[in-house]
Amino acid sequence: MIITVASFKGGVGKTTTAFHIAAFLNERGKTLLVDGDPNRSVMKWAERGDVPFKVVDLMGAAMHAPNFEHIVFDTEARPEYEDLKALSDGCHLLVLPTTPDVLSLEALMLTVKALRDAKSTKFKVLLTIVPPRPERDGQEARQYLHAEGLPVFKSEIRRFAAYKKAALTGIPVHEIKAGNAKEAWEDYRNVGEEIVNEHQQVFAGIATSQTSTVATR
Ligand SMILES: Nc1ncnc2c1ncn2[C@@H]1O[C@H](COP(=O)(O)OP(=O)(O)O)[C@@H](O)[C@H]1O
Ligand SMILES: [Mg+2]
Repeated sequence: MIITVASFKGGVGKTTTAFHIAAFLNERGKTLLVDGDPNRSVMKWAERGDVPFKVVDLMGAAMHAPNFEHIVFDTEARPEYEDLKALSDGCHLLVLPTTPDVLSLEALMLTVKALRDAKSTKFKVLLTIVPPRPERDGQEARQYLHAEGLPVFKSEIRRFAAYKKAALTGIPVHEIKAGNAKEAWEDYRNVGEEIVNEHQQVFAGIATSQTSTVATR
């Protein structure tokens, strides 16, 4: 399965999301994480620690892609309007992370407009860095997104300090020792399960092609 993570705005948890979706998929099949950000955020993250899956930059993607069942693309912020169509055409699912604040939601609506203009239906919005209750930001953002008729992941990513520690250490959040690391991983696992459930045909296709590859060897 090919998943791309994109948004017009930086700092919304794009890289964190790409990294942890890749960690989730890697438990089901060999996964490649492609760093499409010229800032090389994932490459730097991976250099700091011991990442359980392969990470390459865009230049390395073509060479490595055939050896992997799943590919996740992290992208740079501020893609050109036209780029979004290409990003959407090149994947099975475009994940659009947004934090539950006005600036992020406005940037998200620009992304969505570009995708709707391009007649893309492959995208799904993920609420990230959601503050704990009693703050109502997450709930209000979800209501707004529903009112706009957007597909939104049922699971959301709560705000946990464990993610910053994971980024500094260079490993996925479930491998660090920090309070809330378990809950933090649980959030991305729920997102991963949602993706698997909704794309069963894609996953079944991968399983079939794996079997036939083995059978023809
Ligand atoms: N759920 C979260 N809770 C707390 N901090 C987070 C969370 N997700 C990301 N962060 C932190 O927010 C900052 C921006 O995240 P990042 O994934 O780099 O965003 P982007 O790729 O969109 O710029 C980083 O310092 C990251 O560790
Ligand atoms: Mg990033």
